[in-house]
Amino acid sequence: MTIDLLLGLQWGDEGKGKIVDVLTSNYDIIARFQGGPNAGHTLEFDGQKHVLHTIPSGIFHENTENIIGNGVVIDPVIFGKEIDGLKPYNIDFKSKLLISRKAHLILPTHRLLDAASEASKGKAKIGSTLKGIGPTYMDKTGRNGLRVGDIELVDFIQRYESLKGKHLEMIKNYDVDIQFDIAELESEWFAAIKDLKKLTFIDSEKYFSDAKLAGKSILAEGAQGTLLDVDFGTYPFVTSSTTTAAGACTGLGVSPRSIGDVIGIFKAYITRVGSGPFPTELFDKDGDTLAKVGNEFGSTTGRARRTGWLDIVALKYACEINGVNKLYMMKADVLSGFDTLKVCTHYEYRGEKLDFFPYNVEPENVKPIYESISGWNEDLTAVKSKDEFPENLNKYIAYIEKATGIPVEVVSVGPDRTQTINMI
Ligand code: IMP
Repeated sequence: MTIDLLLGLQWGDEGKGKIVDVLTSNYDIIARFQGGPNAGHTLEFDGQKHVLHTIPSGIFHENTENIIGNGVVIDPVIFGKEIDGLKPYNIDFKSKLLISRKAHLILPTHRLLDAASEASKGKAKIGSTLKGIGPTYMDKTGRNGLRVGDIELVDFIQRYESLKGKHLEMIKNYDVDIQFDIAELESEWFAAIKDLKKLTFIDSEKYFSDAKLAGKSILAEGAQGTLLDVDFGTYPFVTSSTTTAAGACTGLGVSPRSIGDVIGIFKAYITRVGSGPFPTELFDKDGDTLAKVGNEFGSTTGRARRTGWLDIVALKYACEINGVNKLYMMKADVLSGFDTLKVCTHYEYRGEKLDFFPYNVEPENVKPIYESISGWNEDLTAVKSKDEFPENLNKYIAYIEKATGIPVEVVSVGPDRTQTINMI
């Protein structure tokens, strides 16, 4: 029995939510292992669009258990709103959504600290989603954090007060003006904690060990993407968790030996939201077209996403770090209509030609070297099988497979579940 992983290979927003939803019928359990409400996983079916932030994307399937692992950080208020939004679906959350006691809680003051930290950075700001992610992971590694299991303890309120007190002192040290009404924030937060307590808390490591013994199939759903990983991403313009394959082990409590397939998801081009280096970023008409046709706006913050040509150097790096053995290419339909497509095959790095992702990809160090590939005009959104693909799309896919050495097993041609083409 193995656990398959599904991971983003770029700067997030690759379309993980859609694919998890499509794959869920093959699995008994879907598990989130890192990140929190900074994520926005979009699913579309029956003409309806759904955005999930903390809840795993298997929640719409009747027979699937959904696990929020210890590596996730939970904002009870946002989480409560997410659950309320799913009311029309009559989901039995108590039995279908299980939460690790070791997952950390985002306090209202974590969000305030995020805002203060970003405001104090001025131009150097990370472009955080301002959901309190960074400060919560800081408290986790600093061994100050509050965990879901703490809610069950008699001294939960004292623990909360003590951490809140520390945060309020820290906020004073930032030379920025952050307006807030702590009493209001707290009353909303404690009401949400009360609701959270009605759900099922588990020891996820024990849960997964039992699930494996019972022969259950498990899919771990990554959030954000490899290039936002706290170690391997474009630091410091990254998120605060391990978004790569190793994060599934530490974020669920499963051993590396239990990992099976590692499915890597990437867009047929590339996007980024927030600050930070982006070697193939486009500032021209082509970039605008990708943004417009691809509807590139953040599903959590609504911010416009930056767009660029596919970066094969970064893609190979992501495949290597994660041990990807299957590639899924998303949003191929967005590339219809370009006479010529470009892919970045190398970087010019301080006068040297590189084919690997170096320590520093700031624009002053790195210039992308492109190869041109002929495009196609056909609309792909109604395509039902790979036999209908235009020849130049097949060539584009073959190019990526050759460059990475990994098969492209799925190509997505639109946001709906049905617009998913199997290549094998
Ligand atoms: P944070 O995770 O909110 O601290 O944000 C850190 C960086 O990661 C910012 O550039 C965000 O825009 C980016 N980021 C965080 N979550 C996501 C996501 O789910 N998709 C894309 N970018 C994200």
